[in-house]
This record gives sequence, structure tokens and C-alpha cells, in this order.
Amino acid sequence: MERNDLCWCGSGKKYKKCHMPIEEKMMVHAEKGEIVPSRKLLKTPAQIEKIKTSAALNTAVLDEVAKHIRIGMSTEEIDQIVYRFTTEHGGIPAPLNYQGFPKSVCTSVNNEICHGIPDKNVILREGDIVNVDVSTIVDGYFSDASRMFKMGNIPENAERLVRVTEECVKLGLAAAKPWGHLGDIADAINTHARANGYSVVEEIGGHGIGLAFHEDPFVSYVTPKGSEMLLVPGMMFTIEPMINEGSPEFYVDEDNDWTVYTIDGGLSAQIEYMVLVKEDGVEVLTK
Ligand code: MF3
Ligand code: CO
Repeated sequence: MERNDLCWCGSGKKYKKCHMPIEEKMMVHAEKGEIVPSRKLLKTPAQIEKIKTSAALNTAVLDEVAKHIRIGMSTEEIDQIVYRFTTEHGGIPAPLNYQGFPKSVCTSVNNEICHGIPDKNVILREGDIVNVDVSTIVDGYFSDASRMFKMGNIPENAERLVRVTEECVKLGLAAAKPWGHLGDIADAINTHARANGYSVVEEIGGHGIGLAFHEDPFVSYVTPKGSEMLLVPGMMFTIEPMINEGSPEFYVDEDNDWTVYTIDGGLSAQIEYMVLVKEDGVEVLTK
């Protein structure tokens, strides 16, 4: 690409006024041995617009769940709400048939860390904490976010875990800066979780997203500050730490091959934001 060519991203600007300075800056970091994103991880303005439409529906689906979730409801009913609302608004639930996943949403209760499968026999009870993880496809573009829901009065330890998990994600977001690193986010999250006596799940993490459900990079929440991939404008990924009361170790359900449980039966909480790195900061696309 020559400096006076139109930029590859389709912005209509000359390369020298658009991605050339970004790529030159990336090259300086790469020469120091840092991990830098490939060009295909930098979303173009046209892609960003499409992905924002998907993300807006994803947030609306979560709002719909928030409106209807209640004690006595089965997680299967949450699945029905997600399926109906998403398809009525022109979207497709991304989990449905994803690598054999049988439902439209993940619902993970109490000691379930993630990837809980909605079930008519799983009834939400007073005191439960439940993560509802919604992912949406609109016009081929992907979005992903999750919230924690508290069922009525919950035990003090559950209350504290959910509060600290919220704080972790907010601190992670605050640590996310263009030209910083993914490890800055991880360090902010891990430090706060550990200071509160909790652990962060290591082997399962976040991911790039937008053109596919799961893109590079893998996003760890336990890596050191300044490590991992450079954060370059145009990158999109999720901040979705899983915080455990006890051990970070887990096992996967042998029957369904999906649901991830804490090994010690302790509670786990997760909140997921999907973000876009911009030249002047980081924007939350869905949460
Ligand atoms: N929403 C999950 C994530 O954050 C993806 C789960 S894959 C599924 O990455 F098939 F279980 F939906
Ligand atoms: Co995700």
C-alpha cells in the first residue's frame, strides 16, 4: 500500500492519513518483540457499523431477559425469551447449534462457571445467582455479553461475589487503553479478585469477536500488566472474567460436554462486556 493510495479499510481517506500511522506505530512495538494484531483483526468503519447493529440487539435481548427473569422460572423459559426476541428482531442467537450447543443462550447458576444449558428442570430459586450469556448474529456480524441476575434475597457471600465481579469488569475496562496491552486488563481484574480472596479461572477466557463468534486473540484475565497483545484501534474483543469464590479449578459436565462447574462446589460469577478499541479510548458495544 502506497502512502497516497486509498486506505485498505475503505474509509475513503488516503492511507497516509488513515491506517499508515497506526501500522507504523504497530511496527515499532513488533520490533520490540510485542504481540501485535494482524490487519484482519482491525475492523473497518463499515464492519464497525454492522457490528454495532448486532451489539444493539444483543443489549436489547439482555434487557428483555432482565424484564422477565423471576424466581420460579426455568432456565428453559429464559432460552425461549432469547430465541423469540432475537428472531423477532431480525437476529439469530449465536449459541444455537454452535459446535453442537443445543440452545440459544447460556444460563449458568451458582456453582456453574459458564456454558450452562437451559433446561426445563432447572428452576430459579430464591438465593440463586445466574449468569445469562447472550450472543447475537445480525446480518452475519457477531456480538456477545452477559449479566448476573440475583434471585430475590441472596446470601451475603453471593452478594459480595457478584459485586466484586462487577468491580473487576469495570476496573478491567478502565485499564483498557489504545496502545496498552491485554495484560493490563487482566492484571486489573486478577489483582482486584485476589485482593478480595477470590480466584480467576485461567483456561477459559475472552476472545476477539465481530466477524466470527470467537476470533483471535484469546483474552486471559490472569496475565501480567504490559504482556499479551497490543491494543490497537479497530480491535474488538470481550472482557468476561469468571471469578470463583474458592479454587479456580473446574470440570466439564460429562453428560452434556458443555457445562463448566467449580471443582469445589463454590460459587462462580461472570460479567461480559464487548468492547471496541478506538484512537481516543475504549467503547463498550454491548454489556
Ligand atoms: N457466550 C460464550 C462466550 O462468551 C460462548 C459460549 S459458546 C456456546 O464466549 F456455544 F456455549 F454458546
Ligand atoms: Co464471550
